[in-house]
Amino acid sequence: MRAEKCLNIGDLERCARQRLPQPLFDYIQGGSDDEITLAANVTGFDRYALLPRYLRDVRDVDSSVAVLGSRLAWPLYLAPTGMTQMFHRDGEMAVARAAARSGVGYTLSTMGTTSIEDIGAVPDLPKMFQMYLLNDDSLNRAMVDRCRASAFDALCITVDCITAGNRERDIRSGLSVPPRLNLQSLGQFARRPEWCLNYLRGGAFRLPNIGDGNGDGNGGGDISTLASYFAQKMESNISWQHVEAIARQWQGPLAIKGLQSAQDATMAVEAGATAVIVSNHGGRQLDGSAASIDLLPAIADAIGGKAEIILDGGIRRGSHMVKALALGATACMTGRPYLYGLSAFGAAGVDRSLAILHSEFERTMALVGCRSVADLKAGTAMQGGAGAR
Ligand code: FNR
Repeated sequence: MRAEKCLNIGDLERCARQRLPQPLFDYIQGGSDDEITLAANVTGFDRYALLPRYLRDVRDVDSSVAVLGSRLAWPLYLAPTGMTQMFHRDGEMAVARAAARSGVGYTLSTMGTTSIEDIGAVPDLPKMFQMYLLNDDSLNRAMVDRCRASAFDALCITVDCITAGNRERDIRSGLSVPPRLNLQSLGQFARRPEWCLNYLRGGAFRLPNIGDGNGDGNGGGDISTLASYFAQKMESNISWQHVEAIARQWQGPLAIKGLQSAQDATMAVEAGATAVIVSNHGGRQLDGSAASIDLLPAIADAIGGKAEIILDGGIRRGSHMVKALALGATACMTGRPYLYGLSAFGAAGVDRSLAILHSEFERTMALVGCRSVADLKAGTAMQGGAGAR
């Protein structure tokens, strides 16, 4: 199947499953423990019903928004995902350029396989860098300095990884980072020769954002070696003082990613955050917590417009984005959908994932009778105000 033949994100997901070696597909797809939160993130949207209003002029839908100091053509940030070159050798660069073409924002991960400087050079792209706080303050400060020097527009600090989530799919599959040929993987890779050729033609596998940019942070090994390498480097006692220190140094748009409670969201605003990213890490950290969409109304109430809100997790349709905005989000964030596209078709697949979500989003806006994001936020699109079925 070609990318243009994929009608929805589910089609891209099936293509990614067919093209990636199974351990890599499982790494994208998986969540922690019983994957209950992972599933709830997607199904959670079905509990909210849209309420269309008709006989309004919706010939020209304008879905642009201002968020984190940037203007987006439509309200989406691509989520930070680590080690993206494992899925396709064009990795983060292909994703960032596709985001620029579509007019949405891109978030580079601390665990990315492309440097802050290389992403910084992509023109016409709203850029955010996602920080995992390291236990060496000089390294944290160096990351912030590099982002400023590379003209990043915003920073986000992920706070939900105090310890690694229990991802049993990765332990079972014996996933190694970077992927390596051994007895267990031989059969899996042999069934995916296209991926193997593509991967082998890629450059050296590095994590160039951890540390000072001198190429530290290779951290290779099996998934548990990587987890312990990561655990050694991470700040295990991340506090609001850390957030305040980064806010003081950065002096620009700052988001906190991974908050789930109204209390923490309020504290984030007090600590200097311009945006709160409501997220459970795509169900990859704490299993048993709520679907992201269910957390949104209470957080929107608590923040009361004092900060922007980005809803992350489970978005597979443009209508999901419409529901998130109608419930108080300023914009949305998505991870797996673009990774499916990248893994299956490279840059063309990322383009396709964005084209699908964008057209679904704008079609749904028109069908509910909203011409702008401001119309949506006025609450006209949801059943019974709060929106619960
Ligand atoms: C992630 N996520 C993530 N988050 C983060 O803050 N830093 C990171 O390095 C990563 N890495 C990562 C790798 C992979 C393969 C996935 C699937 C996810 C979480 C990501 O930013 C986002 O929160 C979720 O992907 C959102 O859920 P959906 O959109 O995938 O349902």
